[in-house]
Amino acid sequence: MGEDEELVRVEGLKKYFPVERGFVERLLTRRRRFVRAVDGVTFGIRRGEVLSLVGETGSGKSTTGKLILRLIDPTEGRIYFDGEDITDLRGEELRRLRRRMQIIYQDPYASLNPRMRVGDAIAHPLEIHGMADREERREAVLEMLERVGLVPAEEFYDRFPAQLSGGQRQRVAIARAVITRPEFIVADEPVSSIDVSLRASILELMMDLKEEFGLSYLFITHDLAVAKYISSRIAVMYLGKVVEVGPVEEVFRNPAHPYTRALLAAVPVPDPARGLAPVELKGEIPSAIDIPPGCRFHPRCPEASDVCGEREPEMVEVGPDHFVACHLYS
Ligand SMILES: Nc1ncnc2c1ncn2[C@@H]1O[C@H](COP(=O)(O)OP(=O)(O)OP(=O)(O)O)[C@@H](O)[C@H]1O
Ligand code: SF4
Ligand SMILES: [Mg+2]
Repeated sequence: MGEDEELVRVEGLKKYFPVERGFVERLLTRRRRFVRAVDGVTFGIRRGEVLSLVGETGSGKSTTGKLILRLIDPTEGRIYFDGEDITDLRGEELRRLRRRMQIIYQDPYASLNPRMRVGDAIAHPLEIHGMADREERREAVLEMLERVGLVPAEEFYDRFPAQLSGGQRQRVAIARAVITRPEFIVADEPVSSIDVSLRASILELMMDLKEEFGLSYLFITHDLAVAKYISSRIAVMYLGKVVEVGPVEEVFRNPAHPYTRALLAAVPVPDPARGLAPVELKGEIPSAIDIPPGCRFHPRCPEASDVCGEREPEMVEVGPDHFVACHLYS
């Protein structure tokens, strides 16, 4: 299992969703088809780190996050949390685990009950986990409201989500996520739906809370500039697989996988990959139902050779703590 400082580890993780079939299709064939949303992923998240997970839409980032939190069940593979295999936890054991790991979604408006007062929404996880009585809960929530910058706390406690701005709502979602003092948070595009001018302050809040509460994050984002700002390591996902993972500085300076180079070339990032020929990303991401054989990136890869269509590349180490799955390096 390796590094004992790892808080989370996934090994060979897969999630296949069965494709709904029409009536005629059911008559014609017994064959079931699957969306291979996550298709064999292995990585760790170290205690106290922010690991960013980046990749185009549909690459399996959110599904990976939900699998780790055990919000959905894997098709294959194992999930470890704090050294314990949590893949098959059920019932009370799973419930107890839940307060140690939380999620922050992209759209706080969708994740907050519009009829629930802000204070009650933040108190809710404490109530579910039986962590405090009514009076203690109120105290804890007021303290937390203040901590996330929603002051005067008494006033915010009684408001409804519709009475808040997008940034304020995300602060509520963050407060609700940390109120049980979790060790690990999956943040799934937490600033993507927030006005650009407010993003930095939300990211700063998340970093402050990380230090204060000793949190570790899996930070899912489309935005490479955000990933660079917030994370210590970055994992690049393509069509259900992690194709490159390494320290964020190193991956930005020496992106090894052609897909990573294409992503970096496509986005205006401060300090882009210098000295490397930009890779143009051609075409759309293929359907996760019909994944290309061999290296799944080969139909779009300008550097593909014969072997790429035949054999799937293994992860190899190309620098300190920097791994890539590409035949150019094996
Ligand atoms: N419940 C589901 N049933 C069927 N297919 C699903 C389900 N959830 C996700 N998928 C499919 O799995 C693939 C991966 O989806 P996922 O949401 O994990 O991607 P993502 O990287 O988070 O994308 P985005 O950046 O758009 O959020 C997609 O093809 C998606 O359509
Ligand atoms: S294995 Fe081949 S197709 Fe895949 S990224 Fe590397 S060079 Fe491109
Ligand atoms: Mg997603």
